[in-house]
Amino acid sequence: MTEHTSTTTQLPELQLDGISKSYGDNLAVRSITASIPAHKVSVIVGPSGCGKSTLLRIISGLDEPTEGTVTFEGNPVHGVPEGLAMVFQDYSRSLYPWLRVDKNVAFPLSKLPAAERDARVAEAIEAVGLKGREKLYPWQMSGGMQQRVAIARALASQPKLLLMDEPYASVDAQTRADLEDLLLKIQRKLGITVLIVTHDIDESVYLADHIIVLSTPPSVVAETIDVDLAHPRDHFSTKTHPRFVEIRGHVTQLLRHTELTGGAA
Ligand SMILES: Nc1ncnc2c1ncn2[C@@H]1O[C@H](COP(=O)(O)OP(=O)(O)OP(=O)(O)O)[C@@H](O)[C@H]1O
Ligand SMILES: [Mg+2]
Repeated sequence: MTEHTSTTTQLPELQLDGISKSYGDNLAVRSITASIPAHKVSVIVGPSGCGKSTLLRIISGLDEPTEGTVTFEGNPVHGVPEGLAMVFQDYSRSLYPWLRVDKNVAFPLSKLPAAERDARVAEAIEAVGLKGREKLYPWQMSGGMQQRVAIARALASQPKLLLMDEPYASVDAQTRADLEDLLLKIQRKLGITVLIVTHDIDESVYLADHIIVLSTPPSVVAETIDVDLAHPRDHFSTKTHPRFVEIRGHVTQLLRHTELTGGAA
């Protein structure tokens, strides 16, 4: 297994240069430099507490780094950039409790003509398997259903850059597999750039074109890996492919190594 850097000739959509973040004395993220290629799925994996959510918040412009810069399409990020959608780890804080499912999904689409907005909302709700639940309020739904509403809202906005923080952690295994496939399908259809955080190694390899492995806190990039598995992927043939098994083993070893050594830097 060789180490790769991105082989794409396109400019990176998103560039992280020397990102550090401290909360008081707590250094959460330590000098992260990474390129996120356009029109691909990049996955950040790393142990709990290594700063993944912090990093996504900084990329989204919701939080400022203590040091370093984030560049999106060549422009430094200060505040949430146009064309960005985010699915948060904590679904209970993602949705507007006073809006029904369809209104939650429609919320970012207020500038669209009504017919297009309604079509996108219906399509996204159906895609996440919530057809017939449009008139429920978030508090009438299970956690996994609420997270699917948040995913539908992000997809309906057809963002250029989609950031997802452990989006499938609260759904059952079958729904999770379906939502992973839905993400891949939509990503390939629309060509959006996706950056997803997970600590599930299988999920990272299955979804990714590009994996960024973070070390234990304060985290650094332990390695970046290009995943050369064919598309379209499916849960049986992709996950039994020798190359999948090889990459998964490599990521597992890296994470184990980083836990034992506390990061290589
Ligand atoms: N708003 C905050 N104020 C103070 N400390 C914070 C804040 N957000 C995160 N931290 C600290 O930063 C470190 C990284 O947290 P973060 O939530 O980014 O990790 P994570 O990799 O997303 O973890 P998990 O896998 O458990 O979701 C932790 O030590 C955490 O306590
Ligand atoms: Mg997190």
